[in-house]
Amino acid sequence: MYSIQSYKKEYLRQVETIAELQFGKGYISCDDWFDKDRIILVAVKDEKVLGFCIAVILEYKNLAHIELQSVLTDSPVGMIKSLAVQPGQIRKGVGAKLLEAILRLLVEKGVSQFYTEAWRDRKGTRIEKIVLKNNFTKLIEKEDYWYSDSLKRNYQCSVCGQPCRCNAVVYYRRE
Ligand SMILES: CC(C)(COP(=O)(O)OP(=O)(O)OC[C@H]1O[C@@H](n2cnc3c(N)ncnc32)[C@H](O)[C@@H]1OP(=O)(O)O)[C@@H](O)C(=O)NCCC(=O)NCCS
Repeated sequence: MYSIQSYKKEYLRQVETIAELQFGKGYISCDDWFDKDRIILVAVKDEKVLGFCIAVILEYKNLAHIELQSVLTDSPVGMIKSLAVQPGQIRKGVGAKLLEAILRLLVEKGVSQFYTEAWRDRKGTRIEKIVLKNNFTKLIEKEDYWYSDSLKRNYQCSVCGQPCRCNAVVYYRRE
């Protein structure tokens, strides 16, 4: 059985490998793993990282999507930035456990509203079932959301390469 723990730097190489396989090279930069504002949980079994979840607490006024201001209130917002599971470990419940654990942690920190941006490719939105089960609601879908970001930061999308042509689906949850 695995345990859900806080990220520590000894796991850097393993989380970077999962991020590269699941999101593409360069999408999560090395600095992201050392950013003090990030809340990172990992699922670990026998010192092997099975998956990770990254969240950040944002101020309402700094929300990336203006549409969120009509459904959220002027208090801290937990943004679920990335959720990824090692390819060999998918569909075993690890992703759902990581998301539930990070939501609990954010609630303990006094956060009561959340949002996430999910990739939609030809096969659909991989995270949709997990977020809907956790009481998120779909807000909007944005076409070619990472197009200019993928060029500016020079990363290869794991689904469509560069530039990224995936859409973003924005989900939110409010207590
Ligand atoms: C999305 C991801 C984190 C899911 O993790 P996981 O451990 O495989 O998911 P779980 O086993 O906890 O599954 C939870 C639910 O999601 C569904 N699900 C899992 N992977 C899915 C996929 N690729 N497409 C559609 N639904 C999926 C499962 O069927 C399950 O629903 P069920 O309980 O009704 O059967 C994992 O597939 C992944 O790393 N994907 C690549 C990165 C990514 O797209 N991250 C999300 C955006 S940040």
